Amino acid sequence: MKQLIATAIFFIGVPVFVVSSCAQSPVNTFPDRQWWKEAVVYQIYPRSFKDSDGDGIGDLQGIISKLDYLKSLGIDVVWLNPIYESPNDDNGYDISDYRNIMKDFGTMEDFDALLKGMHQRHIKLVMDLVVNHTSDEHDWFKQSKSSRNNAYRNYYHWWNAEKGTPAYRWSFFDVQHDAWKFDTATNAYYLHYFSRKQPDLNWENPQVRKEVHDIMKFWADKGIDGFRMDAFQFVAKDTTFPPLPQGYEKNIIQYYGMAPGLHDYIKEMYSEVFSKYPLMTVAEGSGSTFEDAHNLVDPERHELNMAYPFEGIDLASDPKGYSLLTFKKVFSRWDSAFARKGWLSIFLANHDNARMVSRYGNDTPAFREASSKMLTTFLMTMRGTPYYYNGDELGMINIKFSSINDYRDVQTINGYKNVKDNGGDTLQYLALQQYASRDNARTPFQWDATANAGFTSGRPWINVNPDYTNVNESAQTNDPNSVLNYFRKAVALRKRNPVLVYGKYTLLEKNNPAVYAYTREGGGKKILVVLNFTAQPATVKTGISTGGAKILLCNYSIPSKDSQLRPYEAIVYQLKY
Ligand code: NOJ
Repeated sequence: MKQLIATAIFFIGVPVFVVSSCAQSPVNTFPDRQWWKEAVVYQIYPRSFKDSDGDGIGDLQGIISKLDYLKSLGIDVVWLNPIYESPNDDNGYDISDYRNIMKDFGTMEDFDALLKGMHQRHIKLVMDLVVNHTSDEHDWFKQSKSSRNNAYRNYYHWWNAEKGTPAYRWSFFDVQHDAWKFDTATNAYYLHYFSRKQPDLNWENPQVRKEVHDIMKFWADKGIDGFRMDAFQFVAKDTTFPPLPQGYEKNIIQYYGMAPGLHDYIKEMYSEVFSKYPLMTVAEGSGSTFEDAHNLVDPERHELNMAYPFEGIDLASDPKGYSLLTFKKVFSRWDSAFARKGWLSIFLANHDNARMVSRYGNDTPAFREASSKMLTTFLMTMRGTPYYYNGDELGMINIKFSSINDYRDVQTINGYKNVKDNGGDTLQYLALQQYASRDNARTPFQWDATANAGFTSGRPWINVNPDYTNVNESAQTNDPNSVLNYFRKAVALRKRNPVLVYGKYTLLEKNNPAVYAYTREGGGKKILVVLNFTAQPATVKTGISTGGAKILLCNYSIPSKDSQLRPYEAIVYQLKY
C-alpha cells in the first residue's frame, strides 16, 4: 500500500499542506525540502536596473515597470541591494535612515507597490540588511560623535586619543587603508572597516542589537521574505583592539570574520526575529573554514538558512585566468562539506565583482553567448540555491573604462588615490580595474537599442556599455537561441527537476583540465552535466553511457555526439535509470 505523507511547505509565508504519494513521486525522497532551497534568486542592483523618472538613476517604479519581465524569467526571489536613505558614499551600503527609502529610488508607497506586485506574481523579496556599519550621516553617529557622554556614544567603536594611537586596523575602502579616523570634536578615533563614511556599529551594546531587531521587524511586518546580511561575519569584534600581526590583511577574513560573540548575536536575532517570521536568511561570507560556515547554517543551531562562501567567487581574481581543476576542486569540496547537513548558495557574480562572463567565461564576440550559457548551465545544475546577477541573463560584459573619471565606485576611486599617493603605477592599476572593478557589473541594464539602452531618458549615473546596440533584452526576448531564453530554459529545467536542487552530486573526470562533468542523482532520476570551460574543442570521457539518454538542455542547436565537445559546449542529459 502506498503511504500518504503530509508535507508542510511554506508558500508565500503560509504553510500549505501537500499530500503526496511516497511510492510514485520524488517529492518525499528528498528530506527537508524548503522553498528557499528550491528558489532561484535573482539579484537586482536598483541603481542600474531601470529609471522611471529621467534622473539617470534606476528606481523602484522602474523595477515595477519590469515586474512582468522578472516573472518571465521564472525566478522565485529577488534580492534587492539597499534602497534605504543614504548619502551614497558606497551606493546605499551607507545607510542614514533604515526606515526610509532613498529619494533617488522613490517613496515608501513605491516600495509597498513593488512588494505587492512581486507577491502578486509569486516572487518573494529579500532585502539587504546593512548593520555592520551605518552612514556617518545617520542620526546615531551624529549624536555619538557630538560628545563622549552622549547616550549614543557606545553605538560605535571609539578609541580615546589619550590612550595613544590605536593598533592598526585595515580598511577595505579607505585611501590609506586605515580603519581608524581621528575626530577632533571629541579627541578620539572611530572605527570604519569600509569607508570613512561607514562607521562600524558596536554590537556589544545590547541597545544596538535591539535597534537592529526593531528595524528587521519593521520590514518583516511589511511582508518582506528575507534578509541578505551584509558583511555580517564582521560584526563581532575584540573591542580591546589588540595589535595584529604584520600583513594580517592578506588573510582578512581570518582576522575580521566570525569573532567570538557572533553566534550569540545570531541566536539572539533568531529568537527575536527569525523565529517569528517565515524569512529566508543568508549572511554575506561564511568565515574561513567549513566549520565556520556549518556553524552558521546547521539547522539544529537555529541560526541562518544558508551560507554564501567566497572561495568560488574569489577564484577568478587574476586577469590571467583561473584553473578549472581548482574550480572543480573548490565547488566539489564545498558540496561534499554540505552534502549531509546545512545549505549553500551557488553564484559566480554579484555587484561586488565584475561580470560573470568576463571573469569565468569568454567575453569575446565569438564566445560570449556560448560561454554565458555554459556558466548558466553550471549555476542551474548544482546543489544549493543559485543567486543570479541581473544582466548576466543577457550575457552583459565588463565595460572596461579607460579613465578613472568614468568610475563611480568608492573602492576603485580610493584605490586609485592610494596608488597615486604612494607613487605607484596608475596605468597598471587602471588596467587591472578593467578586469576587476565592481563598476563593470554596475553599468545600466541593457533593455533595448535606443539611447542609453532604454535604461533612462536622462543622463545615466554611470556610462552604459556601448555594446548595448547588440546586447539587449529586446533583441533577445523573442530569439529562441538567445542567452536570455537559455537562462529561462535553464531555470525552468531546475524547477521541474528537484534532483537538480537536492540530488547527490558526483564529480567525474576530476583531472580533465577543460571539462567539468558531474552527475546529480536522486528521486528516481540521474542527470549528467558536461561543460567545456574552454575556447577549444575538448574531449570528455565520463565512462557513463549516454545511449538512450534524453537531452534536457544544450547550448548548441545540435548537441555533440560521442565524447567531443565544442568550445564552451554544455549538455545536460537525463540518463536512462
Ligand atoms: C559588502 C557589500 O556587498 C558591498 O557592496 C559593500 O561595499 C560592503 N559590504 C560594505 O557594506
